[in-house]
Amino acid sequence: MISKVTAVAPANIAFVKYWGALDIERALPRNVTISMTLDRCVSRTTAAFEEGARDADDIAVVDDAGVSRAPSASFRDRAQRHIDRLRHRARRQGRFRIVTRNSFPMGAGIASSASGFAALTLAAWRAMGADAGTSELSILARESGSGSAARSVIGGYVEWPSDPLDPESPASEIAPASHWKLCDVVTVVDAGEKDVASVDGHRRAATSPHYETRLRLLEGRLAAVRGAILARDLGALGPALEEEAIELHLVAMSSRPPVFYWKPGTLCVLEEIRGLRRNGVPAWFTMDAGANVHVICEPRSEREVVERISALPEVRSVISDGVGEGPRFEAEHLF
Ligand code: DP6
Repeated sequence: MISKVTAVAPANIAFVKYWGALDIERALPRNVTISMTLDRCVSRTTAAFEEGARDADDIAVVDDAGVSRAPSASFRDRAQRHIDRLRHRARRQGRFRIVTRNSFPMGAGIASSASGFAALTLAAWRAMGADAGTSELSILARESGSGSAARSVIGGYVEWPSDPLDPESPASEIAPASHWKLCDVVTVVDAGEKDVASVDGHRRAATSPHYETRLRLLEGRLAAVRGAILARDLGALGPALEEEAIELHLVAMSSRPPVFYWKPGTLCVLEEIRGLRRNGVPAWFTMDAGANVHVICEPRSEREVVERISALPEVRSVISDGVGEGPRFEAEHLF
């Protein structure tokens, strides 16, 4: 018998970043992180599980044109190792067929690991008939090696790990999406794949002379970000977001060998956001490990932000996203 499940899991934007690991293979972070789960940038994954079948698994991605094709070797390897682990954990034998599709353009330089591995975990686990609560799913998603996937199984504002003294602890909710309807104007200035994968950035982080200082400063910043979310205070959240993003890149750029993600377009967008603020528009930037910029603002400023950012010649595309409710299952399948 074949059991088929489709899961939709969102990407998330880190407000306090995971950068540097205690155990890179198991994605155990050095520090607590906080993120906002997105709404429109999602991965949709259908997993079909045939109990008892012994043929090799089949993993495919659907491209922007809607055509099913073989995934990149690196995604295939990571996904294969992950489904082997899930099957082992669930004590099942059988064959998977997996198809996945992103709502955002594949070549846009927008990270899809968090949403992709969260969706894969949710779909594969349920297709095997295995049961789990959100905390267990968060841990299973993290074990894919994409630590940020641990946060994508929960909607709204999320903290991971939930216990600062236990890096193996799952993500947990700080506040639901309905608490504060923040927008994220995802600004693409570089559509290429980044030169240095996050996993290598994590490995190099501790070689930066600024890394230990960052860890020391984080306790105060975590409290500030958590407090600003709970108080819905963008004036307090914004500066903490920008400091945090700059610090991630400061550590990356001063690692040995250095990791340099910024492109000329990155600086143009940052300059524009500062200009917007001088004109009274409360908008603040953050960036993950890449050249693209996430502009965080409230719904009343979103239109002006989108118009001003889209007009920059360095900007290739803009996706208007915002806080989302988290993953869901769908009755309609990809195959
Ligand atoms: C800078 O190891 O989760 O985005 O496997 O590429 O998803 P991927 O990366 P991961 O590191 C994320 C690094 C970050 C910050 C963050 O999301 O916390």
